Amino acid sequence: MQTLTQSLKTLSTFAIESFGENVIHLQSLADVQALATNLPESFYILGGGSNTIFVEDYAGALICPELKGIEVTTTAEHFHLHVGSGENWHQLVEHCLVQGMYGLENLALIPGNCGAAPIQNIGAYGVELSDVCDYVDWYDFDKAEVVRMSVDACQFGYRNSIFKGALKGKGIITAIGLKLSKAWQAKIAYAGLKELGSEATAHQVFDAVVRIRQSKLPDPAQTPNTGSFFKNPVVDNNTYQRLQAQFKDIPAYPQADGSVKIAAGWLIDQCQLKGHQIGGAAVHVKQALVLINKDNAKGRDIIELAKYVQQMVVNKFAIQLQPEVRFIGQQGEMTLEQFV
Ligand code: EPU
Repeated sequence: MQTLTQSLKTLSTFAIESFGENVIHLQSLADVQALATNLPESFYILGGGSNTIFVEDYAGALICPELKGIEVTTTAEHFHLHVGSGENWHQLVEHCLVQGMYGLENLALIPGNCGAAPIQNIGAYGVELSDVCDYVDWYDFDKAEVVRMSVDACQFGYRNSIFKGALKGKGIITAIGLKLSKAWQAKIAYAGLKELGSEATAHQVFDAVVRIRQSKLPDPAQTPNTGSFFKNPVVDNNTYQRLQAQFKDIPAYPQADGSVKIAAGWLIDQCQLKGHQIGGAAVHVKQALVLINKDNAKGRDIIELAKYVQQMVVNKFAIQLQPEVRFIGQQGEMTLEQFV
């Protein structure tokens, strides 16, 4: 077997000591074009590493889009931003706030790069990327050109998009287009923001979001983690009624289509799993939806812990949690079930 020499520890905020060989940095469209003409057999596109865990050594190529640039144009009603996929998301949020372009403040402190934002349609405190997205520029490996995809074409859903589905591995996001209304209104429906009141400024919303996140979510620089580990499960109304009859205070968010989103963190918490540790991996003590690399976790520790959490939740609630994070094993991207 090939000996891999490049540590991947710093390429993922979960910081597991695993090894690769071939990390490709793309700094321009010309770099993307050159890559497309000579595409590696096995590759994974990494957008900041805040939602990816290197469970095992991986001999394939890791492609890192690092295209920079923020261009702003204005129309009577909107600021239009064209942002390179390699720009850091939180820095963009801060930049917009300073420039008086509001609408991203609820999405403050989300780790990762702008090019990764559409892939899982990042969302927090009542706002999703899809609410502010105008288009996504995506380099199509087959067509060998950049295709501008409308919001509809991106098929955004809860932590989902076409880039995770039909277009996975078929191209690279080079830039995103955002459209921020000049007639800004605070979005404060989320429980922790309501008390700001409808007169809140964008700076106040930003500060509140930063405060909430810092109080609940571990800073990856101190405690390696990849944010929410599982998605909040969406169940049909019958299932919700069954759960609600048994668990009166289950946090639930009705969806437009009649289904109901349930708080996965609450489900895990009810299984008394906060702080539960397997090897070096643990459930965070303040937010049960976040699994952390507490003490030099090995890839198998986090897989075992994730499966244990899933099993406990199935046993108590008969709900199967689905990971939000993505796993890289020897064969490239793998599902949790594929690790035995
Ligand atoms: N809860 C518990 N115990 C816990 C964790 C949560 O009882 O250990 C309860 C809370 O009290 C609350 C409910 O569960 O009633 C929901 O918790 P919270 O508001 O913290 O949000 P979440 O559903 O756990 C989601 C996103 C976060 C986002 C927040 C705020 C997903 C998978 N996660 O978390 O996104 O920041 O809402 O909008 O949708 C991420 O994707 O990495 C992420 C951090």
